[in-house]
Parts: sequence; C-alpha cells; structure tokens
Amino acid sequence: MPSTATGERWELIATCTRGLEEVVRDELVALGHDEATCGRGMVTFRGGLGEMYRANVGLRAAMRVLRHLARGPAAGPEELYELASSVPWEAVFARSSTFAVTAAGRGRGFRSEAFAALTVKDAIADRLRSRWGERPDVDRRRPDLPVHLHLVGERADLALDSSGEPLSHRGYRPRGGPAPLAETLAAGILLLAGYDGSQPLLDPMAGTGTIAIEAALIAARRAPGLRRGFACERWPDHQPALLEAERVRARAGERAPRCPIVAADRDPRAVAAIRRNAATAGVAGFVEAIQRDALELEAVPSGVIVCNPPYGVRLGDVAELTGFYRRFGDALKHRGAGATAWLLVGNPELAKAIGLRPSRRIVLFNGPIECRLLRFDLYPGSTKESRAEGGGEESSDPPRTV
Ligand SMILES: C[S@@+](CC[C@H](N)C(=O)[O-])C[C@H]1O[C@@H](n2cnc3c(N)ncnc32)[C@H](O)[C@@H]1O
Repeated sequence: MPSTATGERWELIATCTRGLEEVVRDELVALGHDEATCGRGMVTFRGGLGEMYRANVGLRAAMRVLRHLARGPAAGPEELYELASSVPWEAVFARSSTFAVTAAGRGRGFRSEAFAALTVKDAIADRLRSRWGERPDVDRRRPDLPVHLHLVGERADLALDSSGEPLSHRGYRPRGGPAPLAETLAAGILLLAGYDGSQPLLDPMAGTGTIAIEAALIAARRAPGLRRGFACERWPDHQPALLEAERVRARAGERAPRCPIVAADRDPRAVAAIRRNAATAGVAGFVEAIQRDALELEAVPSGVIVCNPPYGVRLGDVAELTGFYRRFGDALKHRGAGATAWLLVGNPELAKAIGLRPSRRIVLFNGPIECRLLRFDLYPGSTKESRAEGGGEESSDPPRTV
C-alpha cells in the first residue's frame, strides 16, 4: 500500500460506536490491513498518508480516523501539559495552521474535559510560540488540525483527527431535525447482518432512508467517503494526488446492485425525504421508496428485513408502542416467512413485545442509548417453534452477543 512521501508509518486509529469494533476491523482487513487490533470503541492499525486517505474514503462503520501522536501519564494538569509539550507540533503544523483541541474519556485528575483540553491547547501554543515567536490561531468550527485528547484514568492519548466532520456525515442527508440513525451505525448493522447486496433488502420503517441508502452503497460497492472532504486535506503534508488516487481506486470497483432495495414508511413526508436523500447520495435508481404500513409487510423470501422501529423516549410512549411491537412481531411471523429480520431496539420491554425468539442479540449504542440488535430467523411454517415465552436469550454467537 502507498505510504507517505517520506515512507513514514504511524499508528492510526479508526474510532467507532461500541459494538462495531469487529466490523471496522474486518473492513480494514478488506482494505488491505493485515494487522488491525480491536480496542474499546476503536481499531488500531498502521500506515501513512495513503492508508489514512483510504480509510477515510472507504470505511463504512467508523466515525473518525485519527493519527496517533503521543501516549503517557496525565494524572493532573502538570503531567498532561508536559506530555503535550513533548510532541513536536512544529513538524505537523504550518505557521498558518489553525487548531482546536477536543477532549473525550474520563481523566481522574481533571475537574472537566474542557479544562484538560485547555491544558493541551496552552501546551501547543506555548511550544510553537517558543519555536516560532508566534502562537497559532484557534478555530473551533473548522480547524486545520483538530487535536484529539483521550483521557483514561491517569493516562492520556493525543492524536490528530484526519476526518474533521465525523465520517457519518456522508453529505446525502440534511443535518439537524429529528435524530435518525447515524449513517455509520446503519452501515455497521448491515455489515453485522452479513448484507453484501446479494439478497433483497426491505426497511419497512425507513424514516429518512439511511439503512436503504447505506445498503445501496454497499450493494453498488460505492465508497461512502467519495462525496466529502476531510480535515487532513488542510494538513501541511497533504498530498492531493495520493488522495485522488485513493478515490479513483475506490470508484474502480463500483457496479449496479443486482437485488431490490426497498425503503417503506407510512408517513408520506418520510417517503419524500427518502427519495430526496437517495438522489443526493446518487443511488436514486437503486432504492425504491414506497408509502406502506409496516403491518402490511411485503414478503421478501430469502431476503433481509432491517429496521429500527420507534423506541419511544417519552413517558407513556412505551405502553402505546407495546401493542405496535406485538402486531409487528405477528406481521413478521405471518408475512415475513423465508426472510431474516434484524431489528435495532432501544427498550427491553419492547423487544419482549415482539414475541419471537431472537437467534442473536448484539449490544450496540445508538448515541447514548444502549440498544439490542436482534436477529429473527423467520422460517416458513415454524410459527409455534419460533414463538418465545417473553423473548428468549438464546445465542450461539461470539462474545459481542449477549
Ligand atoms: C426511528 S424512525 C426510523 C429512522 C430511520 N432508520 C432513519 O435513519 O431515518 C421510525 C420510522 O418508522 C415509521 N413508522 C412508525 N410506525 C410505522 C408503521 N406502522 N408503518 C410504517 N412506518 C412506520 C415512522 O414514520 C418513522 O419514520
């Protein structure tokens, strides 16, 4: 694989929602990385600029790609300042570069993440002023060099965020408004479901169409990052030709999907949004958007049904939704025979109400909400056997499965 012009190879980190680490690792292996190691909410691998560009353009389930800079003790502000001062920032900054520091995790010796971020910002500014006689400017909105501080107990990691806007921001869906599924989570769910475009797919409660659009991108083998830019394009060592080569390489594998991808919703405004978003994503021809009630489920024999039904966040919602989940479970049982259904459910009560026994349960986080991705094998004619007494917990799958 290509590396930097100087042949430098760094520790790179693909961050992701907890529960998707193995999916991201498999994606990295498919992109040519033999050694990718799963951590908690992240996968580490090695490479230079070329590998970093490739990961940004091609990873579907990762949130960001970071270039690791330093790791060390940070029991308090003095130690963190010392750690941040030891990084040769003058080698990664240009004199005109702007920066911002974002802190995440939990450090024992800090009263707030913001305070820890401020300590790192001061260390960077002081080091560069002592070398160059001037401090770099901070730009919180669109920094050239987004510095990422991660605190765990009494230790800290410092990294440069090469993605900038999170990779979930593919550019096909307006931001803001009611929170739909993150694009990276939708892609991760599809990859966990083993979806590769060789089977028909239905999302019966499609909302803004994220699952169907991500399915179309997978089926078309279209890289998710082709239509957006990355913070590393503003780095002093950016090589535009190398990034363009990665984009060309990614486009070379594209093909038209072979099986239908259907996004349905009962709300006509959702159907209009699905059509708009699919057109912006360049997959309008691959996604059929229809207005239909999920209880009128259309059969998808040998296909997959993937959706995140409404969870109900307000008091009283759950009671109201319990009946709907029960009826949807019945629709899956009576109308979905022959398909495999994958449902992301954010409430255990509602999961039970489906009344079918999941063959797999995977813990995933949808933002702060701990969810279960449930798999139901809808065998034709196995109604009685597949009916669970209050939702079973059987599974023969690996550790992520609970
Ligand atoms: C949690 S949202 C789905 C979000 C979607 N995955 C996205 O990324 O935008 C649930 C969707 O289910 C739809 N819905 C609720 N009840 C339905 C029903 N009975 N039939 C079809 N759609 C329904 C709602 O209109 C809403 O768009």
